[in-house]
Amino acid sequence: MAIRNIFFFLALFLLHFHHLAFANVPLNKTLSTNDQNASWNSPSGEFAFGFRPIENTELFLLAIWFNNIPSKTIVWYANMPNPAVPAGSRVQLTPTGLNLTNPQGQAMWTTGELQGDVSYAEMRDGGNFVLASSNSSYLWQSFNYPTDTLLPNQTLPLNSNLSSHLTPTNYSKGRFELYFDNGNLLLSQIGWPTESRYTNYFSVSSATNDNDSALQLVFDTSNLYVEARGGDRKPLGPEWSALILDVNGYYYRATLDYYGVFTLYSHPKESLNQVWSVVTNVPPNICQAPGSDMGSGSCGYNSYCSWDDYNRRPTCNCPGGYSWVDPNDEFGGCKPDFSFDCGADDERSQENPEEVFEMKPLLNVNWPLGDYEKLINYTLDECIRSCLYDCNCAAVVPNAAKDCWKKRFPLSNGRYGDAKQGFTTTFFKKRIDQPGVNSPHPADQDRVQLALLGSLIGSLVIITLLVATVVSIILLKPKKVVKKVSSFFETNMHSFTYEALKEATHGFSEEVGRGSFGIVYKGTLNSMTNTVIAVKRLDRVVREREKEFRNELSAIGRTCHRNLVRLIGFCDEEIHRLLVYDFMSNGTLADILFKQPKPIWNLRVSLALGIARGLLYLHEECDTPIIHCDIKPQNILIDEHFMPKISDFGLAKLLYSNKSRTHTMIRGTRGYVAPEWFKNVPVTAKVDVYSYGVMLLEIICCTRSLEMDLDEVEEGEAILVDWAYDCYMEGRIEILVENDKEAMADMKRLKKWVMIAIWCIQENPETRPSMKTVMQMLEGLVEVPCPPTPQSFFPIV
Ligand SMILES: *[C@@H]1O[C@H](CO)[C@@H](O)[C@H](O)[C@H]1NC(C)=O
Ligand SMILES: *[C@@H]1O[C@H](CO)[C@@H](O)[C@H](O)[C@H]1NC(C)=O
Ligand SMILES: *[C@@H]1O[C@H](CO)[C@@H](O)[C@H](O)[C@H]1NC(C)=O
Ligand SMILES: *[C@@H]1O[C@H](CO)[C@@H](O)[C@H](O)[C@H]1NC(C)=O
Ligand SMILES: *[C@@H]1O[C@H](CO)[C@@H](O)[C@H](O)[C@H]1NC(C)=O
Ligand SMILES: *[C@@H]1O[C@H](CO)[C@@H](O)[C@H](O)[C@H]1NC(C)=O
Ligand SMILES: *[C@@H]1O[C@H](CO)[C@@H](O)[C@H](O)[C@H]1NC(C)=O
Ligand SMILES: *[C@@H]1O[C@H](CO)[C@@H](O)[C@H](O)[C@H]1NC(C)=O
Ligand SMILES: *[C@@H]1O[C@H](CO)[C@@H](O)[C@H](O)[C@H]1NC(C)=O
Repeated sequence: MAIRNIFFFLALFLLHFHHLAFANVPLNKTLSTNDQNASWNSPSGEFAFGFRPIENTELFLLAIWFNNIPSKTIVWYANMPNPAVPAGSRVQLTPTGLNLTNPQGQAMWTTGELQGDVSYAEMRDGGNFVLASSNSSYLWQSFNYPTDTLLPNQTLPLNSNLSSHLTPTNYSKGRFELYFDNGNLLLSQIGWPTESRYTNYFSVSSATNDNDSALQLVFDTSNLYVEARGGDRKPLGPEWSALILDVNGYYYRATLDYYGVFTLYSHPKESLNQVWSVVTNVPPNICQAPGSDMGSGSCGYNSYCSWDDYNRRPTCNCPGGYSWVDPNDEFGGCKPDFSFDCGADDERSQENPEEVFEMKPLLNVNWPLGDYEKLINYTLDECIRSCLYDCNCAAVVPNAAKDCWKKRFPLSNGRYGDAKQGFTTTFFKKRIDQPGVNSPHPADQDRVQLALLGSLIGSLVIITLLVATVVSIILLKPKKVVKKVSSFFETNMHSFTYEALKEATHGFSEEVGRGSFGIVYKGTLNSMTNTVIAVKRLDRVVREREKEFRNELSAIGRTCHRNLVRLIGFCDEEIHRLLVYDFMSNGTLADILFKQPKPIWNLRVSLALGIARGLLYLHEECDTPIIHCDIKPQNILIDEHFMPKISDFGLAKLLYSNKSRTHTMIRGTRGYVAPEWFKNVPVTAKVDVYSYGVMLLEIICCTRSLEMDLDEVEEGEAILVDWAYDCYMEGRIEILVENDKEAMADMKRLKKWVMIAIWCIQENPETRPSMKTVMQMLEGLVEVPCPPTPQSFFPIV
């Protein structure tokens, strides 16, 4: 008994000691960016306060983060005009509060005037960092100074606001704000970097009387709602009223993301193999939210927004001929890779713009704001030409009523699929591609049409020239270097020297993988803020393939999609051919798919969708369609946010202009290659559809399509494919995902996706759906009919 008591008190003592040592921060304690991993943690270790390195920089953020999850998501940071602080900065707990100093010892940020002396600080389990006086009353708490995130038990009072940060890695004040005005909770874009707020794009139902007007935004342990003065709870939207949060099983946070969506996220507390998922968000679809006359919208200028309903976030795209302003920031907008030539110094583009520019249609995309002319009774042709001949015109939207809306540069609030406005096609202006050669001649047909339009356009040209001259004097900065790009790579790609890449990879010392035609090494580019890169050293390229290699490089260099690995640059020096990519920290799909524990169903679903999107882009949305030819899990890289990126275009085949079939040697990898490779018939993009189907089954089942064991291969190569079809025919789909509760709970999708996969692996390429149809079926936009038998499989080669 006595011994038991002793143990009991000892335990109590240890608990208490633990509390003192780890939870409470005594006076004079300092943290420095130099003590790696040092932080002040909450008693359970769930939250930490300290310095977080900002990826790809040598800067730090004084922050609070979720400490028990791999992504270490930041929920608060010391807010100052530039929150990123240099290495060597320190923070100290003083009687007057926290004092953040730079390496020179100058104060950069403090907790401000406090009502009393601080006696200790505490990182609390709910995520609140507090400074307390000797009687334990709070003098300062991080919950009162929210940045872009609210946590359960935190409220946002009337006089405060949330402000998004600028980009994923730049925590300076961003473009969006959540705030109260006139009794309403609103979301607006701001005239960055000032506080001027544009017309809101979201509001919680407007107040009709005083009792109804908003008092605060409350995040309690069961819901997130606006509390009105009269005590009523107003949900942020229909989905929000029915929320039931499980704070014991999940972490939650509500964040105003840097692209303007206010999102409630959840993350399971237990399983490590997890990512944040969206519970709900406002506005429900930011791409279709009302735009303001001013500001760019979620995606930035000149780009267009499409809502990714599965991941519940917008994705941005640049029209052809445009590329990201900042290749690392999808939401930073696009810039034309050419100049509109309003400066009148290029005669050819002024007098014969059709030799220099073309108007490309973009289906179902509109920039509803930014019209500067409305021409009526204009045919499609007239409308398109009036833009071609107007150097101020970036795009036109003709409609069936023969109205012609001319859009000025920069384009803003671009959106894909605006159902309310009906089906729109925007024609946007781009410079005609000149692959290697100068001055392509306009097609004869163009000349004929031109003659018909002669006089009208003649007068337009004169007016345009006048306007152009005036505008150019007022608006245009001195000539930009964008013009006359000498290289055929009109992209953001860097050309590296061999020496630079050798240095970046420490003499090609760290091998991270082997792709087709070469070995991949990890490296770091010091010149680009320590960007971590993957360098692929190609085996010696045969001279005859040189041209093909360059064509592929230039086409792939122009691709720009978040589900494709980005090519940063290349080296083309003497015998050396290297390609430089972003480094992906989570390895390949094969690395995570065939390992225990297997990745959770939701993650697999999102990976399958992402890969399909990337393929759809390659097949149908690029200027020059591309067949990848070697789709397999080893060629899908996974970034730190578990976003899949298609890589390894070494085998890719370009489909030039109107050719949609191409003869080629056998490419690809056994187990994933379509039967037509063996039949000496032309291959089409459908070979990728086949490989995607095999991979989709692998993603569903977490099983390899082929066992690597050679003995087993003989028994029938496409084991998984056969097995899956048998299970489908016998109506026993659940066997495919044995013991996977989450997948079983999603039986409807599971069954549908197995059917889609079977469609993809049909022997006859014509029977296989296109990637576009696959995408629509995956997303549930079209029904999936019962698939026929895929015939049988691989001839042994
Ligand atoms: C903190 O530092 C001050 C001045 O350096 C000193 O007077 C004080 O005793 C220290 N307090 C603690 C708790 O160490
Ligand atoms: C910091 O943490 C990482 C990962 O937890 C660990 O690999 C590293 O050794 C730690 N560094 C120090 C100095 O403790
Ligand atoms: C913060 O530290 C700096 C440098 O040590 C000092 O000059 C300044 O007075 C301190 N500020 C506060 C509020 O303690
Ligand atoms: C605790 O101390 C603060 C100032 O240090 C004082 O304002 C407050 O009234 C005190 N609270 C209690 C309960 O004594
Ligand atoms: C919220 O506050 C309640 C009461 O103070 C506490 O019991 C609960 O643990 C807190 N929840 C979270 C998630 O911090
Ligand atoms: C937003 O809140 C911050 C403090 O949280 C405040 O400094 C700022 O003035 C507020 N902005 C506006 C426009 O009210
Ligand atoms: C963040 O962006 C701002 C504004 O463009 C810039 O001044 C600042 O240097 C950037 N910070 C970092 C860490 O890149
Ligand atoms: C507002 O609420 C108060 C107290 O609940 C009530 O007396 C008053 O009539 C309400 N006013 C309106 C306009 O509903
Ligand atoms: C459009 O043009 C046609 C033929 O040129 C003419 O008959 C018609 O009146 C015009 N409509 C408008 C609204 O100007």
